[in-house]
Amino acid sequence: MAGSNGVYAPLRRYAHITGWGKALPDRVVANEELARIVDTSDEWIRTRTGIEQRYIATDPAETTATLGARAGRAALEQADIPASKLDLIICATSSPEHLFPSTACIIQDHLGASRAGAFDLSAACSGFVYGVSLARSLILAGQMETVLVIGAETLSRIVDWSDRGTCVLFGDGAGAVVLQARAVPGGVLSTLLGSDGSGGELLAVPAGGSALPTSLETVAGGQHFIKMDGRAVFRFATRVMAEATRAVLEKAGIGIDDIDIVIPHQANHRIIQSSMRQLGLPDEKVFINLQNYGNTSTASIPIALCEAIEQGRLKPNDKVVLVGFGAGLTWAATAIQWAAPTEREVPLWRAGQRSATYGLARMRSRFLRFSRQVEGSLLSEEGEGWSDALSERISRWRRSRQPEE
Ligand code: ACO
Repeated sequence: MAGSNGVYAPLRRYAHITGWGKALPDRVVANEELARIVDTSDEWIRTRTGIEQRYIATDPAETTATLGARAGRAALEQADIPASKLDLIICATSSPEHLFPSTACIIQDHLGASRAGAFDLSAACSGFVYGVSLARSLILAGQMETVLVIGAETLSRIVDWSDRGTCVLFGDGAGAVVLQARAVPGGVLSTLLGSDGSGGELLAVPAGGSALPTSLETVAGGQHFIKMDGRAVFRFATRVMAEATRAVLEKAGIGIDDIDIVIPHQANHRIIQSSMRQLGLPDEKVFINLQNYGNTSTASIPIALCEAIEQGRLKPNDKVVLVGFGAGLTWAATAIQWAAPTEREVPLWRAGQRSATYGLARMRSRFLRFSRQVEGSLLSEEGEGWSDALSERISRWRRSRQPEE
C-alpha cells in the first residue's frame, strides 16, 4: 500500500484466533466413583481442588490423537476453513501417542491437512500457550497464514490409579484454536514464556525416555506414571501465575483493570483464587470450569476458552489473558484482544462438504499406506523391470501430492 510519501509500506499483520473447538471422551467419572477405587472422598477432592468430576477415555480406540483431531476439526469448522489451508499443526501434549512419530503427524493424517507441517510441543500444562505464542510469531513474521494449535491429553493412561495424591486430579480431553493472519488490529497482542528446569523432579514421568529406558524394573517400580510433589507445585504455581499475568499485560501495554476475563490453567481452584487475588481481580473476571473436567493439562485452557465462548463470556474487543503453569517447570501467558465473532452460522451444505473431505482424507491415508506396502514388496523383488516402472509411477504420484514451494 502506498503511503502519502509514495513509499510502499508493508501491510501490518496480526494473529487472530478465528476458530476454536473441544472434544471429550464419553465417560464421566465423578468423585464418588474414585472413592471406591482409592482411599479418598468427594469432600476431600472438592475442598482441596474444586474438582467434582472428570472425563476419562475408557475406550482404547479413543486416544490423544483422536481427541486432538476432533477438537481440531471443530476449530476448523468454526473458522470455516478446510484442513488443506493449514500451514502448520502444533500439538501440545503431555501424553503423546508415542515418543515418535509425533501426535501432531497422526492428527495431520486424520484431518487430511496435506499442506501442513506438524510437530508436538512438550511444555506440560503450559504447552498450549507456548503453541499460541509460536503460532503468533510465525504469522507476524509472514512465514505462515494459518496455524492449528491443539492441546490434547489422555492423562488417565499415565496416571497411577492407586496413588490418591495424583489420580483424583487429572482428566482427558482436547481443545484447539485456529490462528490466522489478518490486517485487522488486535488478536494475540503479547506472549510470555518461562521455565525453571531446576524444578523438573517436582512433577515428572521418570521412565520411558533415554535417561531411564523402559525395563522390567521401571515397570515394576511404577516409574512410567506421573509423580508429583503437590505442595511444592502448589507454591510455585501461586507465585508464577500472578507474575506471568502482570508481565504479559505490561508487554501488551494493558492495565489489570482493563482485563475483561482471565482464563487460567485449570489445576486447582485454590491456586487460581490465590493467584487472581494477588492481582486484585474479582472472581467474575476469572473463568473456572475445572469442577467438570479436572486438570486436563495442555487441554485445560483451550477447553475453558471454548466454554467461556459458549457461555457468552467473550465479546469482540474484550481483553483476555490465558495463563498457565506446568511440569518443567514451565509457565506461559498471553494477552489477547478478542476480535472473532463469537457466533457464526456455517451453512449446512458447507458442513456436509467438509464432512466429505474428511472421508476423502481417510481414503487418501489408506491409499498412501497401501501404495507404500505395494512399493515395498515390489522393490524387494529386485530385477523385475515392471516393478521399477510401477514404483517410479507411485513415487511420481506422491511427489505430485506434495505442496509446491
Ligand atoms: N484423598 C484424601 N486424602 C488425600 C488425598 C486424596 N485424594 N491426597 C492426599 N491426601 C492426604 C495426604 O496423604 C495428606 O495426609 P497426611 O497429612 O496424613 O500426610 C493430606 O491429604 C494433605 O496432603 P497435601 O499434599 O498437603 O494436600 P494439599 O492440601 O497440598 O493438596 C494437592 C494436595 C491437591 C495435590 C495440592 O497440593 C495441589 O493442587 N498441588 C498442585 C498440583 C498441580 O497443580 N499439579 C498439576 C501441575 S500441571 C502439569 O504440568 C501436569
